[in-house]
Amino acid sequence: MNHARALRAAVTIAVTGVLAAGMAMTLSTAASAGTTLGASAAEKGRYFGAAVATGKLSDNTYVTVLNREFNSVVAENEMKWDATEPQQGRFSYTGGDRLVSHARANGMSVRGHTLLWHGQQPGWAQGMSGSALRSAAINHVTQVATHFRGQIYAWDVVNEAFADGGGGGRRDSNLQRTGNDWIEAAFRAARAADPGAKLCYNDYNTDGINAKSTGVYNMVRDFTSRGVPIDCVGFQSHLGTTIPGDYQANLQRFADLGVDVQITELDVMTGGNQANIYGTVTRACLAVSRCTGITVWGVRDCDSWRGSDNALLFDCGGNKKAAYTSVLNALNAGGTTPSPTTPPPGPGGCSASVSLNSWTGGFVATVTVTAGSSGTNGWTVSMTLPGGASVTNTWSATASGSTGAVRFTNVDYNGRLGAGQVTEFGFQGNGSGAGLTPTCSAS
Ligand code: G3I
Repeated sequence: MNHARALRAAVTIAVTGVLAAGMAMTLSTAASAGTTLGASAAEKGRYFGAAVATGKLSDNTYVTVLNREFNSVVAENEMKWDATEPQQGRFSYTGGDRLVSHARANGMSVRGHTLLWHGQQPGWAQGMSGSALRSAAINHVTQVATHFRGQIYAWDVVNEAFADGGGGGRRDSNLQRTGNDWIEAAFRAARAADPGAKLCYNDYNTDGINAKSTGVYNMVRDFTSRGVPIDCVGFQSHLGTTIPGDYQANLQRFADLGVDVQITELDVMTGGNQANIYGTVTRACLAVSRCTGITVWGVRDCDSWRGSDNALLFDCGGNKKAAYTSVLNALNAGGTTPSPTTPPPGPGGCSASVSLNSWTGGFVATVTVTAGSSGTNGWTVSMTLPGGASVTNTWSATASGSTGAVRFTNVDYNGRLGAGQVTEFGFQGNGSGAGLTPTCSAS
């Protein structure tokens, strides 16, 4: 076994253990007055993102609104299977790379959407079945997650695998027909390929407590109890003119399983309730400490897949709608609980927290760096390793020293962070990583 393979195997073993809880943090109840969605969300320890069609990055109005308001992006289509592996074994990352580089240049984090889905499969995969499809699917997960390793905050590893209707069971698909364990196989492959990314299950019509969301809930509970690596659940929240009364309670019951929750594809049908519903969703996320952020599925109404629903926060001219004001006011309202896995930004500088996956004789540490209100041009995280512990491998940072006091400095693409922006790096060590207490300094 060569070094890289040995490391990957070790990481795989490590991360299938129970995830350590993130560091405790201070709760903030102060009201704030951010003037953009991203800055206001960051003040609450969260991100506010938009789905982006990279073809629109040459549209000035679009880019102006995107860069001003959002601190997270997701590719509307460019990271899907048909886009990234149009022919079997031949990968194409042009659109995805373009979005990642736009995000880096503007201090935005990136959600990855999506590694496996019954929709938007390339033709060659649509025609496959059984073990050939299973191998091709897992290879796809490994290749794509490896390509974007260190650059994705959270991956939708699997999208929309549950059926609509009352049964709470899986959706029939070519992937499902390869065996019920295809989802956990995908999560394990994703973790091995990018140990620093949070791994999410993502679905729609799971926005209240119903048979479908309970099916997902049971799967997540099963995964966490068996050590299948899952970190988060995405609630798409493509909403009509009403919102389930138990929307927040549904988020909370998933958070209570020990995973983060995220609103991943929010859009709301136009009408009298649109602004109220947007506000309700925002308040629900803020009220659930493990709700780490909200993504809207597009920038302007005319960018939306929902056409005449006018479902987004900006009109076709890029002007703010009432729904925008409702979201911003909700973000700026006091009395919220920040996410426990994301330290609140300080008055400047940066903060860091560590989460540990340990096994006898070794560990993998995932470190979350959060920029303060001034943003960063670069950062250094220092921590003292316990006696006998040593760093053997680092990703998304450069380590100075391997025992005792060790300093981790940003690499070229993750040093520049906007206010409240979050990035992650990780390292593997021998010995015990218990009690690591990171401190962060920004430049
Ligand atoms: O790029 C081709 C273009 O070359 C061709 O001329 C044109 C003709 O139809 O099609 C273009 O591809 C379209 C693609 O969007 C890019 O615009 C596809 O037809 C169209 O089906 C595709 O729609 C996307 C849809 O997923 C497909 O299922 C939407 O943009 C995208 O917003 C939507 O996103 C999904 C999430 O991934 C999962 N959750 C639901 C959400 C909304 O449906």
